[in-house]
Amino acid sequence: MDKLLLEQSLSEAIRSSLHEIHVHDLVDSTNLQALRLLESGVRDNHLIVANAQSSGRGRRGRNWLSPAYSGLYMSLLYFFPATRLHAKGADNTHPYQGLSLVTALSVFDALRDFCPDSLGLKWPNDVLVDHRKLAGILLEIRTITDCFPVVIGIGVNLNLSPSQRSKIDRPVSALNEWSDPLPASEMLAGQIMSLLLTNIEHYLRDGFAPFRTCWNSRDIYLGTEVTIDNDRQQLVGKSMGVDTNGALLLQTSDGEERISGGEVFPSLRSAAGVVQQ
Ligand code: BTN
Repeated sequence: MDKLLLEQSLSEAIRSSLHEIHVHDLVDSTNLQALRLLESGVRDNHLIVANAQSSGRGRRGRNWLSPAYSGLYMSLLYFFPATRLHAKGADNTHPYQGLSLVTALSVFDALRDFCPDSLGLKWPNDVLVDHRKLAGILLEIRTITDCFPVVIGIGVNLNLSPSQRSKIDRPVSALNEWSDPLPASEMLAGQIMSLLLTNIEHYLRDGFAPFRTCWNSRDIYLGTEVTIDNDRQQLVGKSMGVDTNGALLLQTSDGEERISGGEVFPSLRSAAGVVQQ
């Protein structure tokens, strides 16, 4: 990843909303690197990008396989303005819920020119193609007096070899299956960041409601029978899409449930299986 090319792929306005862009050859995790910056006293928005990660972090304590030049690995350390953050999430939904979905939409939009129509979203923030995972997002939140930092980690599979794929215990896709030649990683990273930072501004101004219809139209499980596993219980029902705060609406035999955490599976059978990373 060439830092200059990455910077050149950003508009003046987007570049100026980032205090600094850090490009590393190898880090343990760009999310951890962002959290270290936070601990060191940094209080501006920073973007951290790496060519490889030795301990990439995934959701729910999983690993994110991150071989050199096989994926995009980046994290945005972003500080929410306290006033705007408090204004959102009226009905107990945490404002970060909507942010996580807005991030997935931004990644989707950056990838869609390079992917077939089967590109879609899985609640809360997976980007899949042909029901196989192409990109994942990990939000890590910290509370510090008077400031609201969040680390938004984004991983996109660019080109995974058969032996790398065999190490991942879930159906996985990579962009090189769909796009030959691959887009330049600087351009792709710049496009994702530009969409994300623009969408965050929109989200802070108007909440998740304006994104809802778009999100639901890309949800691959909308209107289908799913199982939600949230570590404590499994709920089965028909997915009715997300509400105006980004919570998933599930039509169960006992009525409608509002889900704000957990993982979606297409059926009970796969929830009990071992396909998940
Ligand atoms: C998931 O499990 O779906 C989330 C995966 C997030 C991976 C990215 S790669 C860049 C950033 N750094 C990490 O350690 N994880 C995220």
